[in-house]
Amino acid sequence: MKLAAKLVDLRKDYVLKGETVRALRGVSFDVPVGDYVAIMGPSGSGKSTLLNLLGCLDRPTSGSLFLGEDDVSKMNDNQLSRTRATSIGFVFQSYNLIQQLTVLENIEVPLYYQGRLSKESRERCRLLAEMVGLQERLSHRPSQLSGGQQQRVAIARSLVNDPYFILADEPTGNLDSATTEEILRLFENLNEMGKTIIMVTHENDVAGRAKRIVRLRDGKLQSDTTLREGPAQSRSAESASAIEEIRAAIGSDSNKAL
Ligand SMILES: Nc1ncnc2c1ncn2[C@@H]1O[C@H](COP(=O)(O)OP(=O)(O)O)[C@@H](O)[C@H]1O
Ligand SMILES: [Mg+2]
Repeated sequence: MKLAAKLVDLRKDYVLKGETVRALRGVSFDVPVGDYVAIMGPSGSGKSTLLNLLGCLDRPTSGSLFLGEDDVSKMNDNQLSRTRATSIGFVFQSYNLIQQLTVLENIEVPLYYQGRLSKESRERCRLLAEMVGLQERLSHRPSQLSGGQQQRVAIARSLVNDPYFILADEPTGNLDSATTEEILRLFENLNEMGKTIIMVTHENDVAGRAKRIVRLRDGKLQSDTTLREGPAQSRSAESASAIEEIRAAIGSDSNKAL
């Protein structure tokens, strides 16, 4: 089984005014490719710390964190920031879109920073916009979109590099319940397409839509519960064939496990 991430006795200490805070105290679990994990836990349990490590924003104090075959704990700062820019798909509560840019341009941003924009990559961004249902909105600016549409842009942008996983931090935290439902359906569709999703949420309803819930408590793994195996949900034949079509179009240049 291919792994998107592997955590082995992962520890993170913060030293604050001479005192050591042990934010993660030896966390181990695997995230197979195609998994959909919700990370939960009370305030102070280490969720943000874990998210920062998974997102290559910080290095562990000890233990190993593999993304695919690469051990993040052994990376230097350059390797860490390159991995962050090219191999992780971030989705935030507040969307983090660039207001001056159009939908299509926002999706292209990660490629622009890597100097990888081309006619082919632009077509790929257009397909990603279509995949999240924004084909009619390519030239709109974020201020002309609803919250749910803005989050769709962010989700399309997160996929542009074909990341190890989507790392979502309270992705529905700013959305009403109908829009939350839309975004959760989109995550389910992406997961059915084989995309790996790791999401922090404090909402039970949202976490219940994942395939698996990992709970932290006091920097340790409290529980790891599988909710469902295999594809996230059944789907209509029509959406299945649409998904297959888009998968074929955007998956062709992939050299990662997704
Ligand atoms: N930069 C930091 N410096 C010192 N202590 C920190 C820092 N970040 C987090 N902590 C501490 O680490 C523990 C875990 O925090 P955090 O990962 O933010 O938990 P959560 O996101 O679950 O609320 C807490 O005790 C918190 O106070
Ligand atoms: Mg937090």
